[in-house]
This record gives sequence, structure tokens and C-alpha cells, in this order.
Amino acid sequence: MTDSLNAKPLLKAIGIRKTFGGGKGLFGLGPRRAPTPVLHGVDLIMGPGEVTGLIGESGSGKTTFGKCLLRIVEPDSGTVELEGRDWLAVPRNGLQAERARYQMIYQNPYACLNPGLTIGAHLRETLKVFRGVVGSEADDLVVRELRRFGMAEKVRSYPGELSGGEKRRVSVARTLLTRPSLVVADEPTSGLDASVKADVLDAMLQARDVETAYLFISHDLDVIRFVSDRILVMYRGRIVEVMERERIDPELPHHPYTVRLFEAARADVPTQEEIDARQGAELRDIDLSQGCSYRPLCDIWHGAGRPEGPCTTDLPGLLQIAPNQTVACHVMQEEAASVVAPKSSDPTSSLEVPESPERSGNIEESTS
Ligand SMILES: Nc1ncnc2c1ncn2[C@@H]1O[C@H](COP(=O)(O)OP(=O)(O)O)[C@@H](O)[C@H]1O
Ligand code: SF4
Ligand SMILES: [Mg+2]
Repeated sequence: MTDSLNAKPLLKAIGIRKTFGGGKGLFGLGPRRAPTPVLHGVDLIMGPGEVTGLIGESGSGKTTFGKCLLRIVEPDSGTVELEGRDWLAVPRNGLQAERARYQMIYQNPYACLNPGLTIGAHLRETLKVFRGVVGSEADDLVVRELRRFGMAEKVRSYPGELSGGEKRRVSVARTLLTRPSLVVADEPTSGLDASVKADVLDAMLQARDVETAYLFISHDLDVIRFVSDRILVMYRGRIVEVMERERIDPELPHHPYTVRLFEAARADVPTQEEIDARQGAELRDIDLSQGCSYRPLCDIWHGAGRPEGPCTTDLPGLLQIAPNQTVACHVMQEEAASVVAPKSSDPTSSLEVPESPERSGNIEESTS
């Protein structure tokens, strides 16, 4: 994490946890629903105007994390500071007044567009509600904004007359009209074909104010690489790797899960379901109540013959293994430490706990 971030963060979220379920059904009736822990203590620090990518397979908790940051979903625990304020202390009835500055672009923005309103009317309404701008000043701003997105001629069109890519651009234009300081963009290009995707991304990044920061959520590593200053990799509600732009290179060492995501972006690698099916009962026997939760899929651990050791006993925390790169992996951490202080050449020695790894500073893993 860069010093500038630590000096003046826009957002500082530490130890965010969320579990769904666990209560009774509606009106306290019905059986108790099984609790589903989704976030296990996630940290994120962002500076103004930065783009942080959040990547992970479907179901890993990315959307829930984005919603927790904006309090669209309330986190169970953790702290969130936004522009120096304790964001979780803002009363719920005070949140609406803050929505203009902290926005979410949803995975399916179509639902937010009223089919009976023209595009111009949508944008004018946003200006009125969030910035109090009306009349000819609003008309001018709307046209200028649409022009930035290459859509000035669509001001009188209805949502039903636009293509998928155009609707996305309208949704982004509307978000940026409020001059937000933080935008959580949740899969804003999913389902678009490649050329439209590039157009939408370009529009998003070009049209923003310099101070607008994005948390850019996607399972598409190509998209994330294109836009991000920094990438967080999430696996089942835990961040397993953080890399700054210069480390976003598949040729460099990465957490085995990140490697899998890089490979998935380039070739036809098996999905998690296919691997589960192939390894079958053998994988289901693995006790994940302790040790590294990535173990069932980990090529390093399987390749080493699934040894007992730190991988099976200790949840790895995020530690720095290179400048601007932290990973949650015992083996990679020990390898990084051994570059400083060489150890035995026995290949299984890398499955021992590192003796004195360097803490990454602001990000430490929790133990549940
Ligand atoms: N409101 C909810 N109630 C219960 N479970 C939920 C809710 N929202 C998300 N989940 C569960 O949380 C997990 C993570 O979901 P999500 O954050 O949407 O993941 P991602 O965005 O990475 O695909 C999933 O198992 C999902 O079913
Ligand atoms: S800690 Fe062990 S099981 Fe987990 S990712 Fe690293 S090598 Fe694999
Ligand atoms: Mg999602």
C-alpha cells in the first residue's frame, strides 16, 4: 500500500464481516435459517481518484463487500471511515443525504431506468434531486454529460430504444452527474460484447472527475487489469492477494488462486465445479475448520503431496512478499523470506511456517 494512501485515505475499511441468515423466517416463524458467513474480515484502503479492482469467482462475496462499504447492506462488524468520518456512525435516516457522494452502479442497471421517461428526463431528475439544479442550467448539463458519453442525440430517446451498451452508458452518466467521490461499480460491463465493453469502460474513466474513486468489481480479469491502479483478489470472503498496478503481471509469482484466475482469463481451465467433481470425495474429506481455506484447490499443496503443516493448521494472513504485493499463502511467504535468509534446499521445507515474515502494515488477517 502506498504512503499517499496511508496519509490521506478516501476510504478506510477494516475487518468487514458479514453473515447472512441465522435468524428465523418472516415474523419470527419457521425454522432457523443456517447462517452463511460471507465476509471474514476484509480490509480496503483507497485514496481519492484511485481505481481499485476487486476480482474473484461468482459467490466469493464481492457484491456483498461493495454493498457493506456503502451500507446498502449493514456489515456485522468492522470499521469504515469515509473522507475522515466514521461512516458506520451515520444514522440510517441520514444516509440518503449522502448517497450522491457514495454511489453504486449495479450489475443490472436497466432496472433503475423507468421505461416511461426519456433519457434526458432521467438525468434532469438526478440533477434536481442530488444537486438542486433545474431549468435551462440542467438542460445544458444533461446535454454536455450525454455528449461526453457520445450519446447527445439520445436525449429524447426512451430506455427501450437503447442498446444494452447505451443503457449502461446512461446509467454511468447518471451516476457521475452527482459528482461522487466513491463509486462501487459492480460488474458494469458483464454481458456486453468486447467492443461495447471497451466503449463503456472508456466512457467511465474519461468522464469522471479526477477525485472520483472506483471500486471496480468484476470476475473478468481482463477488464480489471485494464482499469485498475490496484487489484484485490477475493476467495470465499477473504482477500488472498493485493497487488499494485506494476505487479499485475501473470509472469510474476502470484497466489495460486490468482494464478487460476489469470489462466481462466487466457484459456479453458476447469471450473471449480469440474475440479470438485474430478477430485470428488477426496476433496470433501478435507477439514476446512482450520488451515488454509484454499487448500482443496491449491496446486502447490496438492503438488507437494498434501502434507500436514501450516497449510492444514493455520489460516494464512496477508503478508508482503514483494514491493507492492501481499499474499495470504504460507509457502509464498516462506519463499519470500528465504530470499532474504536462504534455508535448506529441501523442497518440502517451504511447507513450514515462516519465521519472521514482514507484516504488510495495514492489512492483517483475522482468525475465523
Ligand atoms: N441477501 C442475501 N441473503 C442471503 N445470502 C446472500 C445475500 N446476498 C448474498 N448472499 C450470499 O452471499 C454469497 C456471496 O454473494 P455475492 O456477494 O453476491 O458474491 P459475488 O458478488 O462475488 O458473486 C453467496 O453465497 C450469496 O448467495
Ligand atoms: S497456504 Fe498452503 S494451501 Fe494455502 S494457498 Fe498457500 S500453499 Fe496453498
Ligand atoms: Mg456479484
